[in-house]
Amino acid sequence: MPPMVLLGPPGAGKGTQGQMLAEELGIPQIATGDILRAAVKAGSELGQKAKSYMDAGDLVPDEIMVGIIRDRLQQPDAGEGYILDGFPRTVAQAEALDDMLAAIGQKLDHVVHIDVDNELLVKRLSGRVICRDCGATYHTRFNPPAKDRVCDLCGGELFQREDDQEKTVRSRLAVFQERTQPLVEYYRQQGIYRKVDGDQDPETVRARILQAIEGK
Ligand code: AP5
Repeated sequence: MPPMVLLGPPGAGKGTQGQMLAEELGIPQIATGDILRAAVKAGSELGQKAKSYMDAGDLVPDEIMVGIIRDRLQQPDAGEGYILDGFPRTVAQAEALDDMLAAIGQKLDHVVHIDVDNELLVKRLSGRVICRDCGATYHTRFNPPAKDRVCDLCGGELFQREDDQEKTVRSRLAVFQERTQPLVEYYRQQGIYRKVDGDQDPETVRARILQAIEGK
């Protein structure tokens, strides 16, 4: 299966849908936010460079992100297709991705934009909690764990992301509008852009995404 991109503002459900689709389609989900958070946690050189951008809700520079993706796409599990979650986020990243794929005779098959109203995004992110151990995502109201602050899957502690405070969320939404929204036109011109309404429950959104990519 050729690669696909999940596009959407912070909190649209890229991570949630990426995980569900990866299981369903049997291909990996490649989430640049997760790669960066792991680097920050490990205290690596990449993590040290990325942390201040992430905490402020800004984008990490394109050359760093392109390098990360170039390395990741060379891993053996990326040979049979993958779902990109959080990359590309700028036109320069999209052009670099097109070049990388062209060099190996591939191209993107689908770009699915999960569209959600900004106020709902703020509600989703300010209630999001994540397992420190396994990374599972919950929402204190929309998808609560059975026991407060404890992961249903592994019993790990649930925490709120540093960049999910309302002020930072609003900066991230503004950055999306300014830097990432131009990708809509970029991919529309390639004829691979699909927009899906993401304001329903995760199962409904999942069905809409599958319909968008299968109905191509
Ligand atoms: P990243 O981790 O990619 O953050 P993001 O794009 O802001 O996306 P989120 O993870 O916040 O949201 P999501 O769309 O995955 O939603 P989720 O499924 O979790 O990036 C973080 C930072 O890293 C960036 O700010 C930047 O600094 C840097 N970075 C990363 N990639 C980069 C790049 N390419 N270039 C430069 N910098 C980069 O859902 C959110 C919440 O809503 C959850 O609680 C979930 O349970 C709930 N939810 C999900 N779907 C539904 C639904 N349908 N109904 C109700 N609740 C739902």
